[in-house]
Order: sequence, then C-alpha cells, then structure tokens
Amino acid sequence: QSKAVGSRLLHFLHQFYPHSMSPSLPGPICLPLLGNMLELAHDHLPSHLTLLASRYGNIYRLKCGNTTMVVLNSGDIIKEALVKKWSDFAGRPHSYTGDVVSGGGRSISLGDYSEEWRANRRLAHNALQRSCQESLEGVIQKQALHLRQVLRDYNGRAVDLSEDFTVAASNVITTLAFGKEYEKSSPELQRLHGCLNTIVSLWGSPWISALDSFPLLRKLPNPPFSRLLKEVTRRDDIIRAHLNDYKMQNQSKASDDTTAITGCLLQGLGKPQRGVVLTDTHVHMATVDLLIGGTETTAAWLSWTIAFLLHRPEVQCRVYDELCTQLDSHYPQYSDRHKLPVLCAVINEVLRLRPVAPLAVPHRAIRDSSIAGYFIPKNTVIIPNLFGAHHDPAVWRDPYAFKPERFLVGGGASARALVTFGGGARLCLGEAVAKMELFLFTAYLLRDFQFVLPEGQGSLPNLRGVASVVLKAEGYTVIAHPRPGA
Ligand code: HEM
Repeated sequence: QSKAVGSRLLHFLHQFYPHSMSPSLPGPICLPLLGNMLELAHDHLPSHLTLLASRYGNIYRLKCGNTTMVVLNSGDIIKEALVKKWSDFAGRPHSYTGDVVSGGGRSISLGDYSEEWRANRRLAHNALQRSCQESLEGVIQKQALHLRQVLRDYNGRAVDLSEDFTVAASNVITTLAFGKEYEKSSPELQRLHGCLNTIVSLWGSPWISALDSFPLLRKLPNPPFSRLLKEVTRRDDIIRAHLNDYKMQNQSKASDDTTAITGCLLQGLGKPQRGVVLTDTHVHMATVDLLIGGTETTAAWLSWTIAFLLHRPEVQCRVYDELCTQLDSHYPQYSDRHKLPVLCAVINEVLRLRPVAPLAVPHRAIRDSSIAGYFIPKNTVIIPNLFGAHHDPAVWRDPYAFKPERFLVGGGASARALVTFGGGARLCLGEAVAKMELFLFTAYLLRDFQFVLPEGQGSLPNLRGVASVVLKAEGYTVIAHPRPGA
C-alpha cells in the first residue's frame, strides 16, 4: 500500500512540478557574466554546436545573459520538440534586434505564436499554394532555361556561378509574388539583394546579437547596428514601392489578380478572422519573408551541389546517364522524379550534408514542457541543430562523407530522417517550392552541362562553408561545358 501511495505522490509531483523529477541538463561551464557567450561566438556555429554534442550529448543547455538555450542535435529529439510537442515549442524568442528586422514581430518567420501570427501564416500559405498550383512549375522551368542561356554565354570560361543562382532563385519568387523578373545587371535587383543580404548577415553577427543578451550595450555606439537600421529602412522602401506598383497596376483591372501571391495577400486584408484583422504591415512582412526565405537558401543549395559534384565527378556522370536513359533527351517534369533515383539521392545527400538553414530559426517554449525527459521551463530558447542531426553517427554511417548512394535502394539511409525544413507549426513555408526548384534546376543543369574544375586549378572547392543564418559555400570558379545537344 505504501508503494501505491508513493507512486501516486510521484505521479502528482511529476504532473505539477515536472522539474522536481527531471535531471538537470548537461552543458559547458558558465563563466561569470558571459555565461556561454564564447561558445556562441564561434565562426562556424553549427559545427561547433555539433562538436559540443559529442561532449555533452544530443541535448544540452547554453546560457547567454539571462537567456537559457537548449540545443537539440538529433533528428528524433528535434522531431519530439517541433512535431510531437509543436504546441509547446511553436513560439519565437522576443528580441530587441528581431523586432527591428521584423516590423515589430509581425513577420511570419520571427513573429511569436499568436492568433495574429496564425492568421498571417495561413494567409501566406494559402496565397503561396494558390500561386504554385497556377504557375510554379512553368515559372521554374522558364528560369532554368534562362540560366542555361546564361551559362552557355560564358563560352567555357571559368566563373563563379553563385550570383547567377541567386538571380534564378530570386526570379522564381519575384515572379510568383509580383509577376516580375529581373536581369542580373538590373539596378533594382542589385538594390534588393544588396539590402536583404546585408540584413541577414548583419543580423546573424555577434556584434548585433550581443544587444539582445546585454541591454546595456544598446547605449554604446555600434556601427554594425546603425548599418542594420539603415538597410531595414531601405528594404522597407523597396518593398513598399513594389506593393504600391502592384496595387496601381491592378486598380485599372476589373477584378483583382489573385494568381500572384501579392494579389492573394491583399485580398485577405481587412477581413476579420477569429478576431484578427491583418494589415498592410503583415502583407509587407510576408513579402519580405518570402523573398528572404526563397532566395539565398535555394541559391546556396545549388552552389553546394556543384561543389560536391566537383569532388565526385563520377556521380555527375551517373546522374547524366540516368537523365539520358530515362527521359529520352526531354527536359524533366517534376512528376518524373520517381524515374530519377540517382538525381533524387544527390538532392537528399546535399540537403543532409549542408542544410542551408543549419540552425533553423530559434524556437521558444510557450509553456513548461519537456524534451527527451528533461524539464524545459517556459521561455527557454530552443535551437534545433539541423546540421548536427544530419551528422549524427547513430543515424548516418560515415556521416561527413558525400555519398548519395546511401539514399538508393540497399544504401541504408532514408530521406524521412532528414529535418532540413524543420517541422510542425513552423515547418518551412516554402518547402514545396524549394523541393520543386531543387529538382528542376539541378535536372536542367546536369542534363545540359558538365561541370569541371578550371584547368590548372588544382584545388577543389572548400566544403566547410561560411555559416551565418544561411550556410553558404565559399566562392569557387567552375567551367560549365555544354553537353551534346544543349
Ligand atoms: C522557415 C529551410 C526555402 C520560406 C524555414 C526553416 C527552415 C527552412 C529550417 C525554419 C523552420 C523552423 O523554425 O523550425 C529551408 C530550406 C530551403 C528553404 C533548406 C531551401 C533549400 C524556402 C523558400 C521559401 C521559404 C523557397 C519561400 C518561398 C520560409 C519561411 C519560413 C521558413 C517564410 C518561416 C516559417 C515560420 O516561421 O513559420 N525554412 N527553406 N523557405 N522558410 Fe524556408
């Protein structure tokens, strides 16, 4: 009987005081004042956090100022938090600098979980879905053919293709959003990319994130932060001009054009949904989200793919052979992907090795909860280390090697173990767009060109990468030789 009473008491305690039962989270020693700030100032944070996982386990804590962060480093643990317990961890941390770049927290990517955020995400999701159904595949194919022409015009010269990839990915989003596309040399495009890139890289820098943890620093002069403020104003002027243009063009038409995302978003304004009325600022920030989310990620992924294929040219030959034999010299449709397992294996392997948003976007516990048996108090910041999960030796054999064959039949790996796009309520909004882009761009590129190292250039591209919010390959040059018939 005393056993039963004991167990009921334990159950009671666990329900109402879960922390009393929970072991404390492991983590590096906290320095006075700094906490674990130095761990976070590492130049390649995803690989440093992965290294810490080998010391402290797949879940550990870091302290920064008053903030406790919990880093998740395995696919199972990340899915437990983001998918199974999504309603506990769907928040975003409030931050001083986050508010600056997100219109006071009204963006989809940085907005905290609330009815207002849900309405905004739902509206953007529906708008994106609608415009994808109408035109996505055609839009990507057009940009892939345009990219083919750009590469042919290089006439076998050694070039860095990263900017061409950025223009192609950006044109997909700007066509979907406003029905506009740009040449690489367009000053409008240069201005837009210039300021979006600067905002993303400045916002990820330690000079700026220190302002979130140490409010006193906000009183000191901080040139990177002043630059950030200037670029945000520039960004907002550009987006406002686009939205006004769009409204003007559509005012003259009898009915609203809702095939472009902007049209759908604007149509959703002013209509109360569960007590929420969305405003122009929401449309503005949703547009920023799509442009930022949809450009650098896809472009960085394309650069990584060519870099890895230069390391293993025989894989490039295998994809080309597969494209020739399966498609009879036609360009593929997205529905052909099941006929092209080698190409899909390459795509998955690059998504695994270089998840281009390597630490996703930080989440926040919106109530007390637990992960992997550890008590996680409300407001804890959760860092899903997607890079770490994709290098977990318990899941991936030879995790640091580029081996697309692991995803082929008998290779032992499953694409279901990937967490490249996050999961749950905060799953990447553009996952479907990105997957179609990765497939079609790569298929077109590898069908039409053989990518080789410039002669006399002994060194292969460096595969370590530059890690900020987006994990990018370091610049490298490559020659794109047209294949027969390209
Ligand atoms: C969020 C990955 C392409 C729009 C995210 C997140 C990841 C991610 C990991 C964070 C999920 C989380 O917080 O748990 C990627 C990768 C891409 C890609 C790997 C390409 C290879 C795109 C594209 C778009 C997009 C093409 C837009 C068309 C967004 C938005 C969010 C997001 C708006 C914020 C979602 C939210 O907070 O609710 N993405 N993304 N992404 N992504 Fe993507």
